[in-house]
Amino acid sequence: MKLKYLSHSAFQITTEEGLRILIDPFLDRNPNAPVTSDELLFADFIVLTHAHGDHLGDAKKIAKIFNSQIICVNELGIILEKQGFNTHKMHIGGSHPFPFGKVKFTIAHHGSSTDEMQYAGEPAGVLLFIEDKIIYHTGDTGLFFDMKLIGEINKIDYMLLPIGDNFTMGIDDAVRAVEFVNPNYAVPMHYNTFPIIAADPYEFKSKVEQNGKQCRVMEFGEEISIN
Ligand code: NI
Ligand code: MN
Repeated sequence: MKLKYLSHSAFQITTEEGLRILIDPFLDRNPNAPVTSDELLFADFIVLTHAHGDHLGDAKKIAKIFNSQIICVNELGIILEKQGFNTHKMHIGGSHPFPFGKVKFTIAHHGSSTDEMQYAGEPAGVLLFIEDKIIYHTGDTGLFFDMKLIGEINKIDYMLLPIGDNFTMGIDDAVRAVEFVNPNYAVPMHYNTFPIIAADPYEFKSKVEQNGKQCRVMEFGEEISIN
């Protein structure tokens, strides 16, 4: 599969079969986004970790164009369903097989409401089991010890985690999170989009590497192959 970093917490996965999955597609109001929602080719599925504007992002606009199915927690799913979107509602601890692979929702310590301040259920992280690889997108979260359990149960290949501080983990807590999960690679996200979440991904990388773990800083718009 291919994994593309669209900046902030937004990623695009393209499977060998050509299925395309977007995660937290915050593009048009994101100063670092390498593409606008209009420039995306298509999205079969959109996975949302929570309803905050910088994660729900352009999901509705994209889903309307491509009739993408939106995968998210139950409460956010109900909100979107009432607005006419095709959703698959799940919840924390639950997993479900999709044509591209399995999705499992995990806890995240954060909030989740829409821009209209409508309650949207619990925020979440997601485990994506695709083509024998496991990607863990933590969503927005503070550090929590159960990450250790997530890493023990699942052999994580890529852990995508926030380092921008203020709303989420900062660099030092994120380094500890990588220790807990013990992925093959840590990929920093949720930084430098706004001044309040300014952080140096290379400081994170060097601290992760001092701990004997591997980190991959992805450029905004960079796409890597995972196989
Ligand atoms: Ni958030
Ligand atoms: Mn956020």
